[in-house]
Amino acid sequence: PSGADFVVVANRLPVDRVIHDDGTEDWRTSPGGLVTALEPVMRANDGAWVGWHGAPDEKLEPFVSDDLALVPVELSADEIAEYYEGFSNATLWPLYHDVVAHPEFHREWWETYKMINQRFADRAAAVANEGATVWIQDYQLSLAPKMLRELRPDLRIGYFLHIPFPPAELFRQLPWRSEILEGMLGADLVGFQLPGGANNFVELVRRMLRLSVHRHVVTMPDGREVRAQAYPISIDAQGFADLAATPQVRARAEEIRRDLGDPEHLVLGIDRLDYTKGLRQRLRAFGELIGEGSLSATDAVFLQVANPSRERVQEYRRLRDDIDMLVGRLNGNIGTIGHPPITYLHTSYPREEMAAMYVAADVMMVTPLRDGMNLVAKEFVACRDDNSGALVLSEFAGAARELKQAYLVNPYDINGLKAGLMRAINDTPAAKTKRMRAMRKQVFDHDIDHWASSFLADLERR
Ligand code: G6P
Repeated sequence: PSGADFVVVANRLPVDRVIHDDGTEDWRTSPGGLVTALEPVMRANDGAWVGWHGAPDEKLEPFVSDDLALVPVELSADEIAEYYEGFSNATLWPLYHDVVAHPEFHREWWETYKMINQRFADRAAAVANEGATVWIQDYQLSLAPKMLRELRPDLRIGYFLHIPFPPAELFRQLPWRSEILEGMLGADLVGFQLPGGANNFVELVRRMLRLSVHRHVVTMPDGREVRAQAYPISIDAQGFADLAATPQVRARAEEIRRDLGDPEHLVLGIDRLDYTKGLRQRLRAFGELIGEGSLSATDAVFLQVANPSRERVQEYRRLRDDIDMLVGRLNGNIGTIGHPPITYLHTSYPREEMAAMYVAADVMMVTPLRDGMNLVAKEFVACRDDNSGALVLSEFAGAARELKQAYLVNPYDINGLKAGLMRAINDTPAAKTKRMRAMRKQVFDHDIDHWASSFLADLERR
């Protein structure tokens, strides 16, 4: 295919494979916010997306799906184990999330991480036109900006980190800390979810690399300037609102409530099954409220959806076992005939079903121990077009900076979680409406288009 003027580079391609009854294969665009936001930019600029297609040991030629030019990067089973499950998700992921799980440091993983970042950079270099803009995404590819610049100094390169960037005290543990910082500094603009992440980054660059930093602009030894700044990511708010307003979703929401026994209080949690999400504490808090009689097992139901994730990584397996056991124990202790207070579903659902759950819920609990942003919180808000419903939100989710009218809680504090949930349940409808209205304004004024266009506008100015 001909080259592209705008290239997105991300660990994953924005498509899912569908296999038809007759055995033929097809690709369907996955409904993430990032694709939605970047589709128009890609169309206007002969865009291409470089990423892994999700399967081991499979080399695919570039192809077009839904008018999107896709450039697949192949990964062998060993490379997946060391680059994706290993360095990305058992080293960087826990390290960047406040070490809520222990990060593992293995030199073999690091070597593979470097090699795969180089592969992504090579692929991007091959597809980008002279002077093109390339936007590299997330922690799986933090070396790619520098590698790409070395191959193609003509490009404009942006990098966005979707997860938190940790304080120096934690980051310094990483044996390859300088290389990671230098890798990110290959970009012209380095984006973070929050100002705190950008501050941590420039502080480290100053201290560890001894580079001069002025107002978040780093001057490199060759005089090139790199800016670090926060761009809080968001969702396709109108898309969710429209979906939630359809008769099908409305009807399905009522059906969900009926199937759960028409509870007075339907409390909802939807998360990837990840140890950063605070599931243990949240379930315990709910269990205690029922156990001590603050909530009754016939009136209150907790619907917890956990999307399967990174299932070959040991910490994730352990978490799954823990949650299975905890839910079983709690329902065994506090349930009554026909009323298990916790309905736990370990599966993923299409957007329509998620929207129906958001509409059905009375209270949404988003209580991660640490989270870069958390889009579930914003999706819930976008779906509540009658301004009803309450959001209990962790202080340690990036979203808390914007959704200030949520019932904010410290997810480590079980009593605090219990108090937050009870407030969200017992507050007057007028108070809840006021909070929801303010949060909806924030989410609609700062949607995913706002995010993408502000980042790209700043990148073009570099
Ligand atoms: C987080 C990361 C993304 C990642 C997603 C799903 O949101 O920031 O980069 O794609 O989790 O995780 P997975 O490992 O399945 O891609």
